[in-house]
Amino acid sequence: MTTLEKLFNPAQRQRLYQAIPTRYSCRSYVGAPSTADWASLGYAAERFALPGARLLLHTVSPDIFTGIVLGYGKITGCTTIAVLAASIATPHSRIHAGILGEAFCLEATALGLGTCWVAGTYKKKQLALPLQADETVLSIIAVGVPEKATPPDARKRKSLDRICKGDILLWPQELRRVAEAVQIAPSAINLQPWEMELTADRFILNAPERQQLDLGIAVCHAELAMESPHVWHFGDGKREPLAWVRALP
Ligand SMILES: Cc1cc2nc3c(=O)[nH]c(=O)nc-3n(C[C@H](O)[C@H](O)[C@H](O)COP(=O)(O)O)c2cc1C
Repeated sequence: MTTLEKLFNPAQRQRLYQAIPTRYSCRSYVGAPSTADWASLGYAAERFALPGARLLLHTVSPDIFTGIVLGYGKITGCTTIAVLAASIATPHSRIHAGILGEAFCLEATALGLGTCWVAGTYKKKQLALPLQADETVLSIIAVGVPEKATPPDARKRKSLDRICKGDILLWPQELRRVAEAVQIAPSAINLQPWEMELTADRFILNAPERQQLDLGIAVCHAELAMESPHVWHFGDGKREPLAWVRALP
């Protein structure tokens, strides 16, 4: 099993980082990925594995998606999904799942496909999957040919001041790039529960413990934006933060 720092090869790292600004939650689809794209996504889904988390590709009936939650429209025209399964007993499996799911979304975005994380607005009973006994489905991800190729103009995001502690202008340029990549990450009901802080010896990326999936998504964006050598540490979210790296040079 690989580690986060080795999850992406250099070409993939660059491709996925470049896909960050164009990813958005697509809720209208006009078709499934081509056979070639589906095969590429299958390869990515197999390659993207971290302890306790994995992605399974699946075809579904479009009526698996349900109604409107908090004003978000129902997903239409989508017949292909990735299922994000986690073995909850494995340490940090929810964070790992967030990382893998978002890497999958960015891979699909780089192929010109639309994606949408869907943890709530689908019929869970309609998914019949060969899961292991200790696995649970944390979310599905809709994927397909988007009706519109371009993302919406305005993204509703918290300012960097609200998600970063201290004066971000004093941070090294690389960490400002990391903060900007985290800022546009997707999160459940767009809560953006992240908090970043640069201390004397650590760059901390934290979130409330119940939002570990969203934290993993932010960690994926942060990892893709980091250039200096680093090692991620994951904590319990109680005595220590959920994620940090030693301060970058
Ligand atoms: C873990 C997670 C779960 C989500 N669940 C749903 C969902 O059930 N239904 C839905 O329409 N959107 C869902 N979303 C999409 C978010 O609403 C969306 O990412 C957020 O509003 C930001 O918009 P953007 O992705 O276009 O940048 C989910 C996103 C995440 C990260």
